[in-house]
Amino acid sequence: MDRHLRIIAICGSTRQQSTNHTLINIISEMYASTAEITSFEGLAELPHFNPDLDNQMPPPAVSAFRDLLRAADGVLICTPEYAMGVPGSLKNALDWLVSSMELSQKPVALITASSVGELAHQSLTATLRVIEADMPDSSRLLIPFVKAKVQGGRIVDEGTLRDIKEVMGSLINAIAKIDFLNTAIPASRTTSCSCSWRLSGVFDRRSLQYTN
Ligand SMILES: Cc1cc2nc3c(=O)[nH]c(=O)nc-3n(C[C@H](O)[C@H](O)[C@H](O)COP(=O)(O)O)c2cc1C
Repeated sequence: MDRHLRIIAICGSTRQQSTNHTLINIISEMYASTAEITSFEGLAELPHFNPDLDNQMPPPAVSAFRDLLRAADGVLICTPEYAMGVPGSLKNALDWLVSSMELSQKPVALITASSVGELAHQSLTATLRVIEADMPDSSRLLIPFVKAKVQGGRIVDEGTLRDIKEVMGSLINAIAKIDFLNTAIPASRTTSCSCSWRLSGVFDRRSLQYTN
């Protein structure tokens, strides 16, 4: 099978000129040859989480959101911090995933890009871990002072660009591991990547690490 990775990006800001949305667009272009990164645009349309509605027949917008995530190889979350915490619309979306478990064992990368962002980053890390997202520390990135680092549709800070590449590498690695384990090729030693995507690199069967 020869396919792109399917990554769903969720932007925690619903603002038209969102820096986080710009970051998602930049990352989508950077990884266009490897991954199809689709931005989920329905955050504002999700109903307020209510356990009474979280049953066999959830609201249609919730079902569609869950289906999208279930079909994805991985998830990229880019978000600002609001009022020292997680934007309400993003937290609402995650609350809908607690019982249905779409993010359980799903490779997730978290980028908190904000003025400061530390508290939202901590809080989201805790939430994503409790719903069992596959998110090692290497898949998390806090970008403070983001408006000085992302300008005119470009990442103008070299350190930020490098950090984003590391986080995306970690996300792709996590997806590669799952794909490798699913294809269950008999373990031997290091081999050319026989993963199912157009990735040119080497997959080490012992460490389960993909290197480009
Ligand atoms: C109501 C409000 C509250 C905010 N509170 C915080 C905050 O607590 N911490 C922070 O880092 N930034 C805060 N900000 C700044 C935003 O995080 C910042 O403008 C960010 O770039 C917005 O992300 P976006 O460009 O993707 O929409 C706040 C902005 C607004 C409008």
